[in-house]
Amino acid sequence: MVCFAGNSSAFGDCMSDTQTKDMIELDTRALIGKGLHRECFVHPEDPARCIKIVVSGSGNENRREQAYYAELTRRGVSWDMLPRFYGLVSTNLGEGAVFDAIRDYDNRISFTLGHYLSSEQLTRLHGPALRMALDRLKAYLLEYRIITMTLKTKNILFQLTGENTGKLVIIDNIGNSDFIPLANHIPRLARWKIQRKWRRFERSLRRDYAANRALAQALEPART
Ligand SMILES: Nc1ncnc2c1ncn2[C@@H]1O[C@H](COP(=O)(O)OP(=O)(O)OP(=O)(O)O)[C@@H](O)[C@H]1O
Ligand SMILES: [Mg+2]
Repeated sequence: MVCFAGNSSAFGDCMSDTQTKDMIELDTRALIGKGLHRECFVHPEDPARCIKIVVSGSGNENRREQAYYAELTRRGVSWDMLPRFYGLVSTNLGEGAVFDAIRDYDNRISFTLGHYLSSEQLTRLHGPALRMALDRLKAYLLEYRIITMTLKTKNILFQLTGENTGKLVIIDNIGNSDFIPLANHIPRLARWKIQRKWRRFERSLRRDYAANRALAQALEPART
C-alpha cells in the first residue's frame, strides 16, 4: 500500500488503516516453540502455516535462509522434507516469516527428533520408522542438493504420518554459510558436503544419545 498524505492527521489515519488491514495479531497462546533466535507461532488465519519472529540476534541468519529458499524455489526442489516458505508478513511482534506448520496425522504439531531420541522407549516404539526416515532424509538432501549447516536434532521434526510411519522435516539451519559458497554451483561438491554433514550428524547422534540402546540398534547398518 502506498500512502501519501498532505498533513499529519491524514497520515495518521492512513497508518492506522494499514495496521488494522495488514498487520497480523499474534497471541502468545499460539506459540508453538522457541529457539535461541526465533519464536514460532501458529498463523492465526491459517493453522496449516506458522509465523517465525526473530527475538534475538541480527536477523542475518534469516536473510541467508530466505536467500537459500529463493535458490531452492528457482531449482524446483521437492518440499517433501522442508517446510515451504511463503514470504514475510508484518505482525504486532515485528516482521514474521511464514512457513508450513508441520503437523502429525492427528493434527498435532510434530515433535522434534530430539524429543523422540531422548526417550529410549519412544525410540524403540518408532524404531523402524525412525530408521527409514533417517535414510530417506539423507537421500532427499543428496537428490535435491540441499545444503545444511550443522544438523541438530532440535531443528528436525519427526512428522508422524500414521501411528507407525513418519518422516523427518528440517525446520531450521539450511543453507551454505561458506564465505564463497561454491557448493551451490558445483553439484559434486554439494553432494560431498552433504555426505560429510551427514557423517558428522550420525556421530553426534551416537555421542549425544549414547545411553539410548534403541538408537544404537536403529543406526546399525542394515544386514542383508
Ligand atoms: N515449520 C514448523 N512447524 C512446526 N513447528 C516449528 C516449525 N518451525 C519451528 N517450529 C518450532 O519452533 C521452534 C523454534 O524454531 P526455530 O528452530 O526455527 O528457531 P531458532 O531460534 O532459529 O532455533 P535455533 O535455536 O536452532 O537457532 C522449533 O524448535 C520447533 O519446536
Ligand atoms: Mg532451531
